[in-house]
Amino acid sequence: MTGGPISLAAAAMIAGRHCGWFPLLALLLCSSVARAQTDRQPPDTMEARVLACVACHGPAGRGIDNDYFPRLAGKPAGYLTNQLIAFRDGRRRYTPMNYLLEFQQDSYLRQMAEYFAAQRPPPPPEIVPVVSQEILDRGRSLAMTGDAEHGVPACAACHGPAFTGMEPAIPGLLGLRASYLSAQLGAWRYGTRTATAPDCMQNVAGHLTELDVTAVTAWLAALPIPPDSSPTARGAWPLPFACGSQPK
Ligand code: HEC
Ligand code: HEC
Repeated sequence: MTGGPISLAAAAMIAGRHCGWFPLLALLLCSSVARAQTDRQPPDTMEARVLACVACHGPAGRGIDNDYFPRLAGKPAGYLTNQLIAFRDGRRRYTPMNYLLEFQQDSYLRQMAEYFAAQRPPPPPEIVPVVSQEILDRGRSLAMTGDAEHGVPACAACHGPAFTGMEPAIPGLLGLRASYLSAQLGAWRYGTRTATAPDCMQNVAGHLTELDVTAVTAWLAALPIPPDSSPTARGAWPLPFACGSQPK
């Protein structure tokens, strides 16, 4: 498989390798592979090609009931493309995704990104936070106004006042669980997730304490999703400092 669609053989390989890791996931993945294999001539649509992906990311990328598997639907296409390239090239690490994307070309990654960016499935159920009101208040204040004394900018300054993101490469932060969000902030702090320099999120994450991470991710995860959570148009607000992935 060089540069072509994600093949069923690749999906089966991933399913095989990971059946021991996540029993529920393996079941889903194995059953969607098996289903696809019984169709002798699967239609060559994007829906058919992303079967291996929706096992973990849910139909139309809406997310599944797993704390760590992110929703993809409606995120800016440029952002999703950048992530797929980062997984392929090892700048972002999660073994099943690194394997799946290993030999894919940029143009195909972009097509998959555009597919998920265009989806508008219903929002996931609301999350009830498990932390104290005091911690939630700290999270809200970091997200909305930042902490100038400790060099933390407001998350809203880039991700937007409603946290729906901005075209083409700043993601919204809605509909993601606290454990996923805090794992991403941790990955930036430890250097296992990097974006094009200047990597603004590395700077942001580097100024957060453990308690800040708990607070801001708990608050973000509990935000209700508005009926239209599409990303805002490019250039809608100035960024407090440059991000290499976001063109001016
Ligand atoms: C075995 C489960 C699994 C499969 C199969 C899988 N993913 Fe993922 N995907 C994940 C997990 C878990 C993450 C988060 C990893 C991390 O911590 O960085 C992720 C992250 C992503 C992200 C980044 C999301 C964001 O908001 O930054 C994109 C985009 C993505 N996957 C697309 C795909 C596509 C397209 C496919 C199919 C070709 C696919 N995934 C297949 C589990 C999976
Ligand atoms: C200077 C602009 C800027 C600020 C301020 C900022 N972000 Fe980001 N953020 C970005 C960009 C750009 C990306 C996409 C990086 C990439 O391509 O991997 C991002 C990505 C993220 C992601 C990954 C989302 C996903 O789906 O994987 C998380 C989580 C995140 N930011 C949280 C925060 C939090 C929490 C704050 C506030 C404490 C914050 N950001 C402040 C620009 C910013």
